Amino acid sequence: MQSSELETNKIRNDFPILTRKINGKPFVYLDNASTTQKPLSVINKIVNYYSFYNSNIHRAVYDIAEEATHAYELTRQKVCKFINANSPQEIIFTRNATEAINLVSYSWGRKNIQKGDLIILSEQEHHSNIVPWQILAKEKNAKIKYLKIDKTGNLNLNELEAYLNSNNNNIKLISLCHMSNALGNIIPIDKIINMAHAYGIPVFVDGAQSVPHLTTDVNSLDCEFLAFSAHKMLGPTGVGILYGKKNILEEMDPFICGGDMIKEVHKEKTLFNDLPYKFEAGTPNIADVIGFSSALDYLNEIGMDNIRNHEIELTKYALEKMSELKQIKVYGDVNLQNRGGIISFNLGDIHPHDLATILNEDCIAIRSGHHCAQVLMEKLEVSATSRVSFYIYNTKEEINIFINALGKAIKLFQL
Ligand code: ALA
Repeated sequence: MQSSELETNKIRNDFPILTRKINGKPFVYLDNASTTQKPLSVINKIVNYYSFYNSNIHRAVYDIAEEATHAYELTRQKVCKFINANSPQEIIFTRNATEAINLVSYSWGRKNIQKGDLIILSEQEHHSNIVPWQILAKEKNAKIKYLKIDKTGNLNLNELEAYLNSNNNNIKLISLCHMSNALGNIIPIDKIINMAHAYGIPVFVDGAQSVPHLTTDVNSLDCEFLAFSAHKMLGPTGVGILYGKKNILEEMDPFICGGDMIKEVHKEKTLFNDLPYKFEAGTPNIADVIGFSSALDYLNEIGMDNIRNHEIELTKYALEKMSELKQIKVYGDVNLQNRGGIISFNLGDIHPHDLATILNEDCIAIRSGHHCAQVLMEKLEVSATSRVSFYIYNTKEEINIFINALGKAIKLFQL
């Protein structure tokens, strides 16, 4: 299926929220990098669980508990297949991508990072891929190096190569976002993983923005860890996913401790459970994990390549229209193959929060602020940007509405 064949109108019918009108105006949702809307199949799946087989999992022998356990574990199998992992044991459910990064920084980091070691991040990381490592580095007296990005937000791989060459013994981890949440830039993560592995260095991929939009294959990527969130890919909030290579996860100690993550508990000692349960203490977010399975079905049905093509087409269209406004400054790579459906921009000297408020009057939802990427904002020498981000249900008509609203703001502020 080509992008133009993606049946957006049919897709939109599956999303109740997209039928909303506010003050008589159609609701235009352009904040998908923040969270995506949910199709009826996901909503119904959750309602169905609570209505007909609500029970705790992995504990009881009665029928509905078995049904719930089966549905929960089925999602794990679907996630495994979706990212082409080797085994469902490599799929850990967390609350969100942030918790997945914290899990690794705590459990893997405290065991493997020592005084003087180096962790490599980049200048375009989300705070969730900075702060956990900063805390770890402080605790261990380790260091963090931020790979520089150029004006268009691209990483300098020569700098990485130089670091790998000169600091081989000290670099213990490279942790990078595959797609920047603020710029939409896609980094050559496969190349970076190859470079790192040539020096025996593991790579953590923050896939929060990439997994919902690009085909992901951890088997061919060969990354050690990958984190992402269900709610950015049509699923419910409160479900994150950590993928980790089995041999590495097996070596790691638990993160959160309590019920379900144990095999035996005695007064003096505890025997931890097998993977993946070792990392899923307490009653998990059963309903939302089960709901997520319908989101994966929905994405599979459309096809990730078609999603990518659709977003390239929308981004191309939006960038062309935006370039007609001379007052606008767009950030990020100009090459469509190197970016996802995210566009950060500033319009003259209008503060992004003011612009977002003006667009809201036309019922257009965009994000404004530092996007949890203040290191990047410092690099761009701005305090904030406005950001639009697309998904499967967005249309060129919506982009036209957005561009018209920008025109109104230009007039209002006499830019
Ligand atoms: N990380 C999400 C965003 O970029 C919340 O908006």
